[in-house]
Amino acid sequence: MAHEVKGVVAGAKGEPVSVTTVLVPDPGPGEALVTVRACGVCHTDLHYRDGGIGEDFPYLLGHEAAGLVEAVGPDVTGVAPGDFVILNWRAVCGQCRACLRGRPWYCFATHNARQKMTLADGTPLSPALGIGAFAEKTLVAAGQCTKVDPAIKPEVAGLLGCGVMAGLGAALNTAGISRGDSVAVIGCGGVGNAAVLGAALAGARKVIAVDVDDHKLDWARGFGATDTVNSRSADPVEQIRNLTEGNGADVVIEAVGRPETYQQAFYARDLAGTVVLVGVPTPEMRLEVPLIDVFGRGGSLKSSWYGDCLPSRDFPMLVDLHLQGRLPLEKFVSETIALDAVEEAFAKMHRGEVLRSVVVL
Ligand SMILES: NC(=O)c1ccc[n+]([C@@H]2O[C@H](COP(=O)([O-])OP(=O)(O)OC[C@H]3O[C@@H](n4cnc5c(N)ncnc54)[C@H](O)[C@@H]3O)[C@@H](O)[C@H]2O)c1
Ligand SMILES: [Zn+2]
Ligand SMILES: [Zn+2]
Repeated sequence: MAHEVKGVVAGAKGEPVSVTTVLVPDPGPGEALVTVRACGVCHTDLHYRDGGIGEDFPYLLGHEAAGLVEAVGPDVTGVAPGDFVILNWRAVCGQCRACLRGRPWYCFATHNARQKMTLADGTPLSPALGIGAFAEKTLVAAGQCTKVDPAIKPEVAGLLGCGVMAGLGAALNTAGISRGDSVAVIGCGGVGNAAVLGAALAGARKVIAVDVDDHKLDWARGFGATDTVNSRSADPVEQIRNLTEGNGADVVIEAVGRPETYQQAFYARDLAGTVVLVGVPTPEMRLEVPLIDVFGRGGSLKSSWYGDCLPSRDFPMLVDLHLQGRLPLEKFVSETIALDAVEEAFAKMHRGEVLRSVVVL
């Protein structure tokens, strides 16, 4: 039996999203049906709507979510009805070459539900990042559900499902920031500010936040930035060097996803430093850098997919830190909204008015 629910669907490239009826099947083998409690609006949802990720319209958007398991498939043992879970887009397979080498946070064969959710007329939907949680219920692979302490508020917990985890993980896992490092973060939206928070948590001595929007920089200070640079009015490479005794930062995290900001990150790091790209570029973007500079500056150039997180390891740990008052995740929630306000939330994101709008159901 399919469940008839409301969901936010992007029907065609660049068109406004709309709330429409979605049919969600009962869970089959390996699957879980989840009642969504909260789902954050991430920039990646906007990329989907605008055709920047693919052309598999219609998309069921939303992928930064927490909820309650309602039912599971016959063979599922990892989660049970009633469990409070954060949904993840890295359900590790345990069998691909990354998993077999003991590096499951790179898993190259992650699971999604096998059955399709559809529109009322049977048109199959592509769920964003294999989740699709701007909906009252969603169907995912059971491995996409990570059980956490239900004492955390759903609108806060859900953020760990994508953007905040991506930023925290870029700092903690991918860059491996440790006590005493100097760090710069370019682009301080939800993801970049989570990287600022991660750098502060890891004990960085200097955390330089860069954005084109003063609001974002004010928020960055609240997350632990020691210095801020508005790159509309000052050259960020020069400013980051000035703030680091002329050397550049040990780690620069790019959380915008554009060639020009990547180039700034590349030149704003110290010799042998690390650049981490967490912003997602579009397919037509190109980077032009003299190869001699890649060699001559040494260090490492990394990308961070989902903050190299392992949901089973990282989600419960970060929830515990939050509940102990050591990780102020609630500061990312700028507003809570209803399902029909997602399009408006995209506009607010575009205008830079919010860190995260979170749909609460
Ligand atoms: N790698 C991953 O796993 C992962 C996960 C989630 C999101 N993302 C990506 O991370 C990026 C950021 O996502 P978000 O949700 O924080 O978006 P957001 O829109 O909230 O934040 C983007 C920020 O970049 C700033 N910005 C724009 N142009 C800039 C420039 N030229 N210089 C400096 N700052 C600039 C904006 O003012 C804004 O504060 C997106 O590309 C998103 O797709 C990646
Ligand atoms: Zn795997
Ligand atoms: Zn996301």
